[in-house]
Amino acid sequence: MSPLLDVDDLRVSYPTRRRDERVKAVDGVSFVMQEGETLGLIGESGSGKSTLGRALMRLVQPTAGTARLRGTDLVALRGRAGREMSAHLQMVFQDPHASLNPRMRVLASIEEPLAIRRVGDREHRRARALELFDLVGLSRELGARYPHELSGGQKQRVNIARALVLDPALVVCDEAVSALDVALQAEILELLRRLQSELGLAYLFITHDLSVVAHIADRVAVMYLGRLMEIGPVDQLVTRPRHPYTEALVSAQPRISPDGRERIVLEGDIPSPVHPPSGCRFRTRCRYATERCAEEVPAWREPAPGHRVACHYADTLELSGVDAASTSTLDGGRP
Ligand SMILES: Nc1ncnc2c1ncn2[C@@H]1O[C@H](COP(=O)(O)OP(=O)(O)OP(=O)(O)O)[C@@H](O)[C@H]1O
Ligand code: SF4
Ligand SMILES: [Mg+2]
Repeated sequence: MSPLLDVDDLRVSYPTRRRDERVKAVDGVSFVMQEGETLGLIGESGSGKSTLGRALMRLVQPTAGTARLRGTDLVALRGRAGREMSAHLQMVFQDPHASLNPRMRVLASIEEPLAIRRVGDREHRRARALELFDLVGLSRELGARYPHELSGGQKQRVNIARALVLDPALVVCDEAVSALDVALQAEILELLRRLQSELGLAYLFITHDLSVVAHIADRVAVMYLGRLMEIGPVDQLVTRPRHPYTEALVSAQPRISPDGRERIVLEGDIPSPVHPPSGCRFRTRCRYATERCAEEVPAWREPAPGHRVACHYADTLELSGVDAASTSTLDGGRP
């Protein structure tokens, strides 16, 4: 079966004040996603997760590479073809309030993407928006309210309804539950899961919280300084990480890392994406780094089918993960 999304060597850079320097926010990322799957994307702040999501949504233009959605390269599309293709891909953002127009009633906000694309007549659009209200579990009387008259959880349901109104194949969720408290997080994650099974959606789920990923994703990709370091099934990455950066992220998650075990503290900040370190870009913070790590960019290795890692020593390092059982801490809404 051909994949839903096939990203190959994608690069996005931003200008800086100096004309000869660019921020390499996404610097050669490749992965595939299948129809209906959830791929988690984790990494520290500044690693390029949102830029990757925004590039797929064409909110920023990639500088190189391809991103094929059901065979069509999103990077090369322009004008009308681009707008048509973009209906298949939608995004839900972190701040449920900021992404809604404060002066528009929420039902009209859900109709808006249909109106912009001139889908059906007003009656059809209203009926479709109400259908979405039901689907995301919002009571229809809330439709006449303005965003500030809704709770955070209700607003995020409106955002999800708005993202689904054009019937997309892939939804990029960028920290979509991070602004909510733990009980609400569990509720919205459950909703996303139900919508996925009813509608066959795929999610690219961006978060800094590994326990959220463990709760919702099938596979997870770990990003550092514009590149992927490791990608594979969630349970394998969490219980048996193969990349030292993944090991550190797993160990630093208070909600899944049991008390009393050693926490690996990553010293220093993430280096500048204008001048990333030579060789392995994690080497300046890696406790296993050798001279070779400064000289050679690590090639991808596949320690198990579907599990890939970019570290010279992936086959020999004995890295520690956590127990699979301790990753389901969002169940019941309690940490
Ligand atoms: N519009 C922009 N202009 C210049 N640099 C930018 C711009 N947007 C992001 N960056 C830089 O690109 C890099 C990646 O940023 P990005 O927002 O993609 O990271 P992130 O992984 O989503 O981080 P966070 O977890 O904080 O949301 C950072 O160094 C950031 O400062
Ligand atoms: S290649 Fe070297 S620096 Fe990079 S993660 Fe592996 S051991 Fe650490
Ligand atoms: Mg971000």
